[in-house]
Amino acid sequence: MLTPVLPMAALTEGDKTLVRVGTSQGAIDILVGLADGRYFAVQAHCSHAGQSLAKGRLRGEEITCPRHGARFNVHTGASMGEPATQPIACFPVLLEAGKVCLYIES
Ligand code: FES
Repeated sequence: MLTPVLPMAALTEGDKTLVRVGTSQGAIDILVGLADGRYFAVQAHCSHAGQSLAKGRLRGEEITCPRHGARFNVHTGASMGEPATQPIACFPVLLEAGKVCLYIES
């Protein structure tokens, strides 16, 4: 399911924002942003203990969890630093008609 979530102009380099997307299995929170010139969309909660990443610091392609400091690559979801050992989910982003659209499997 391709879901438009934001106008492209709503984000500038280094910005991120939380969006809620409805699926057949309920709503999910996704962090959408622009890092190193590319839009990204990742699960909004840390894989370590579930802290929201919405207030995490985004530096380049890495976001730091505000609770215990785990770092993740926002383009791949890979864990880049402990205590998280598992990645976070990434969602494909498509840009269409000036909008940031996410592909979410329903
Ligand atoms: S909850 Fe994110 S590092 Fe612990």
